[in-house]
Amino acid sequence: MTNNAAKPVLVFDSGIGGLTVLRELRVLMPERNFVYIADDAGFPYGNWAEPELRARVISIFGDFLREHQPEVSVIACNTAFTLAGADLRAAFPEHTFIGTVPAIKPAAERTRSGLVSVLATPGTVKRAYTRDLIQSFASQCHVRLVGSADLARMAEAYIRGDKVADDAVAAEIEQCFYEQDGKKTDIVVLACTHYPFMANVFRRLAPWPVDWIDPAEAIARQARRLVPALDDVHPESHVDRAVLTSGNPDFSTRRLMQGFGLSL
Ligand code: DGL
Repeated sequence: MTNNAAKPVLVFDSGIGGLTVLRELRVLMPERNFVYIADDAGFPYGNWAEPELRARVISIFGDFLREHQPEVSVIACNTAFTLAGADLRAAFPEHTFIGTVPAIKPAAERTRSGLVSVLATPGTVKRAYTRDLIQSFASQCHVRLVGSADLARMAEAYIRGDKVADDAVAAEIEQCFYEQDGKKTDIVVLACTHYPFMANVFRRLAPWPVDWIDPAEAIARQARRLVPALDDVHPESHVDRAVLTSGNPDFSTRRLMQGFGLSL
């Protein structure tokens, strides 16, 4: 094993959403160790004012890099990366960041009706970054941005086994479904990493079938391209860790992280 084997891949989100990305990273990078960091003390990111959130992400990342010395960091959060991705790269130029952005380009390539929705946090829908993606890659489509103030929280509850009412979820996703000139939305981009946990519920409640795009696999492929594969693999020696910025995970969070093979 080379020295790099000792360096973990850091995966970061405001909460549990990045676990949807970690799942795919582990498939493509089975020889790597991961440190999963949830800024649960700052959750939800979707409703933060931009300057404050940017400053927070940069400041906590300085601590994470010092403490965990990762080989690369995966920002498994659209809300954080669309706001602070460029600032993180500027603040830590020696470090490699792999980002998460709304999958608008693949949606525009795949849609047949030309009607696409992007379901995201209120933060992500108002980002200049998101508008630029639409202008650069989807100008031939109609893209509706649907900001949900509550879905990330609902996903946190749902994944912990709490009951989430169907009508509350349906109310959050209904704006994604629209018709124009006899055509209907055929793609919904899941532009918050929390949402794939609820994809089955979304499918069941959708007024008509659509493709739900989850970017996790594409992010993992990008990470694999940037992180060299090690031939000497000892999966049994892997201990992946979870770190919560609150420092105080409750019972259901501990159980969830352990269920993902993460020790706290
Ligand atoms: N998982 C995050 C994302 O991809 C956001 C959740 C939140 O903190 O509001 O945007």
